[in-house]
Amino acid sequence: MKKIFRLFIWMLLMPIILVAQIVTAQVSIIPQPQSLKINNGFFTIDKQTCITFNDQDPQLKQLATYFANYVKSISEVNLPLNQKRAKAIQLILTGKKEANPEAYELIVLPSAIKIIANTKAGIFYAFQSLIQTLPAIRTNETLSIPCLEIMDFPQFKWRGFMLDVSRHFYSVDAIKEILDLLALYKMNVFHWHLTDNEGWRLEIKKYPRLTSVGAFRTEFPGNIFYKKDTSASTGTPYRYGGYYTQEQAKEIVAYAASKNIEVIPEIEMPGHSGAALAAYPQFSCSRTAQAVLGASLWSGKINPADMNVNYCAGNDSSFYFLQDVLKEVMAIFPSAYIHIGGDEVDKSYWKKCPRCQQRMHIEGLKNEEEMQGYFLRRMQKFLLEQDKKLMGWDEILEDELLPSATVMSWRGEQGGIRAVKQNYQAIMSPGNPLYLNRYQTENKEEPLAAKASINTLEKVYQYNPLPKELTEVQKKLIIGGQAALWTEFISSVSHLEYMLLPRLPAIAEALWTPVEKKNFDGFAERLNGWHFNAWQQKGFRFHSAYFTSQSHEGNRN
Ligand code: ACM
Repeated sequence: MKKIFRLFIWMLLMPIILVAQIVTAQVSIIPQPQSLKINNGFFTIDKQTCITFNDQDPQLKQLATYFANYVKSISEVNLPLNQKRAKAIQLILTGKKEANPEAYELIVLPSAIKIIANTKAGIFYAFQSLIQTLPAIRTNETLSIPCLEIMDFPQFKWRGFMLDVSRHFYSVDAIKEILDLLALYKMNVFHWHLTDNEGWRLEIKKYPRLTSVGAFRTEFPGNIFYKKDTSASTGTPYRYGGYYTQEQAKEIVAYAASKNIEVIPEIEMPGHSGAALAAYPQFSCSRTAQAVLGASLWSGKINPADMNVNYCAGNDSSFYFLQDVLKEVMAIFPSAYIHIGGDEVDKSYWKKCPRCQQRMHIEGLKNEEEMQGYFLRRMQKFLLEQDKKLMGWDEILEDELLPSATVMSWRGEQGGIRAVKQNYQAIMSPGNPLYLNRYQTENKEEPLAAKASINTLEKVYQYNPLPKELTEVQKKLIIGGQAALWTEFISSVSHLEYMLLPRLPAIAEALWTPVEKKNFDGFAERLNGWHFNAWQQKGFRFHSAYFTSQSHEGNRN
């Protein structure tokens, strides 16, 4: 009788236990897939598992090896490729070229995992979704993946992140860490801001002083940001700097490409060029010697009397110099676009320069804005001859360009709106809310950051790059969006991480997931479901405002 009673209770409880199992199979993928269905049961990656694919395809072999290496890094399991095992992770390429190249389908059954994609990018992204269901660090746990069905593809084709390495320099390993984060969140463009007044960071063989002089500056110890008066500092001034050799830059490009990320180099012109002109003052208007500007002395405004930051537009040699530089840049970076900056050009240098004034007279340019147009069109023609397209900040619209130019809108969205109305392509990167060097909360304890706006996690998350006022045809010219991290105040990798996490996943979801499927509370829940713990286990520093786990200690700022 007792036994029957127990059986009865058991039968009553069974469905509840099963349902509880389904409910607890939490999946916390960021960005939120287009469609996700969680089913009952699990697939376990173990010694009975292999990866199968068409072994005539070297790209699939590379991808399979990538995932096998990931599994090896977190467990004892050494996944064999294309061997007979009880369970397979199957990689299938459809070869449908016309379909979305980044789309993927991921089906997890108890007996198999099927990954179907149009190109290798889709396979890579299916792996990123799988990784977000697995442990983040080495473990003895069973590697169990909830059964599920995902159909997924991005809303925007340009999902970018810009890093300024001029104001502070970061090692190749630090750049790779950032690329790993971008890939994990299915971002596909790394815009590398390589030159500015505070340092030139790329080896150019024809002009060695760009790095021997332009990559180093005098810094002062202590926190004296925004102060011109160095007497506020105590201690001995020191030499600060660094640059990437061409070999290192190629290594970054290849590493990024293996993760479906294109690297877009930015070589600033005609302004923001103080470091280049410290190395080669003959291409400035004054032609006088100067030093590379210190990042800790950055005041937001430069006194033109102290420093030349523009190339002289009246001197043909400036153009030949830049063309030589770009030839070496193009040999390193296979990207279709070359970013030439074009922002915040202080025209006062050109106003006072007899050569520039003569150029304006000869070319019939009415004002210095038209001279900026002349400068950029000349560079654009050169780029087009080399089969490259010009990209620049929204100031490049001050005068007409050739049709293939692409505008990156940073002073709000107005530049992007103007651009598409003039039939140029645009990328939205408005400082408010996509500059991640700005404060992320009102908390007075935050580390020093740019003040122009407070770019909270929620504001970044809610960003939509398609302004309502545009027509459907104009909206098509907005190819995506981009977050940017300027580094005047950011001298360490852990501080970089703190500014990026969790705002980088927020912009990743804003650019991948359609507006109607976005949900900030759900996003915060998913951050807590896998991401915060993963970052904590990997030792990343992150902003913890939305972190709800009890175990969290010592990571507050
Ligand atoms: C910029 O922030 N000056 C592009």
